[in-house]
Amino acid sequence: MQKRLLVTGGAGFIGSNFALYWLKTYPKDKIIVLDALTYAGNRDNLIGVENNPNFTFVHGNICNTELVETLLVEHEINTLIHFAAESHVDRSITGPDAFIETNIIGTYSLLKAVKKIWIDEPKAQDLPMIPHRFHHVSTDEVYGALSKTDPAFTEETAYAPNSPYSASKAASDHLVRAYHHTYGLEVTTSNCSNNYGPFHFPEKLIPLIITNILHDKPLPIYGDGQQIRDWLYVEDHAQGIDLVINKGQIGENYNIGGHNEWANIDIVKVVCKLLNEKFQSTPELAVQYPKAKSAIENNAESLITFVEDRAGHDWRYAINATKSKNELSYHPIESFETGINKTVEWYLENNDWWNDLLF
Ligand SMILES: NC(=O)c1ccc[n+]([C@@H]2O[C@H](COP(=O)([O-])OP(=O)(O)OC[C@H]3O[C@@H](n4cnc5c(N)ncnc54)[C@H](O)[C@@H]3O)[C@@H](O)[C@H]2O)c1
Repeated sequence: MQKRLLVTGGAGFIGSNFALYWLKTYPKDKIIVLDALTYAGNRDNLIGVENNPNFTFVHGNICNTELVETLLVEHEINTLIHFAAESHVDRSITGPDAFIETNIIGTYSLLKAVKKIWIDEPKAQDLPMIPHRFHHVSTDEVYGALSKTDPAFTEETAYAPNSPYSASKAASDHLVRAYHHTYGLEVTTSNCSNNYGPFHFPEKLIPLIITNILHDKPLPIYGDGQQIRDWLYVEDHAQGIDLVINKGQIGENYNIGGHNEWANIDIVKVVCKLLNEKFQSTPELAVQYPKAKSAIENNAESLITFVEDRAGHDWRYAINATKSKNELSYHPIESFETGINKTVEWYLENNDWWNDLLF
């Protein structure tokens, strides 16, 4: 069956990688991207599919229930993949309002729209509900924080969100669950660990470190840098969502992760080492990036600067993806070594993309 996807937040980091992945993997399917183009949304992320006749971009807000209803009907959408969110923890600490609006009210608005079009309207005409799937993209941060020795999060771990961001995502996860249990909406949810890769907005750790090294700016590290995150290459997240949509059980949650825990300070050192090596092996880089003085001198780590820790900073996240592995045959394709190398290469080759966002 041809899938006709509505991808919310498809101009953001993961949503755009997902749209590119999907049309490459399923060229006959149709994708409508709905995105409000906030500071994190960027049409340039979608240039690779812009001319594809099966791709349509709609500039709009997920809180606009009527617009979503119209799109569901006009494009006969049968699969909604919900990425749209405010996603930066630091911004949620200084300004939680937008997180409540988009992550909670926005998700509720989508659920209302799909329930009306897929379930209620056919029922009113004595018709069966429209075959559908609502896939909700969530985060491991809803599970709270771990100590060094705690086992990794499973789908059974109780929710304990600590930041306004993770609390708003947890609330949206619960709404999605409730729409399944109460109204029979056919939903799945995936909770993924930290992503990295192309099109990652340069305020997030890995692209921030790369772009700061290229400008010889300090590399700010919160606290002592010992906080641990579990990193996954973004295309491996897209592949995981694909498996959940195609093989996952309705009403279930699936953890997606790469069993790849790193302390923040060590990730920063890996990126410094990679850029040092690239500048030594490719002298043209010094011409292209004359400001990258420390990397040119094989000493990017000299830019590391410890700064005051983030308020309420979660100490460790780690994903146990055994359920996805056993039930969906999920396993990441990229190793960390190949994924981080691809990512650094991408940023070196695509300075037009990130320069526009920085200056
Ligand atoms: N980045 C990660 O490491 C990570 C890990 C796990 C889960 N997630 C989840 O994946 C999803 C995507 O994350 P991301 O890193 O790509 O985020 P992002 O901030 O890069 O992209 C979010 C996109 O949503 C759009 N958007 C925001 N508010 C909107 C609204 N009201 N209506 C329509 N569009 C709106 C933005 O314009 C942007 O294009 C989020 O739901 C996030 O919680 C992210």
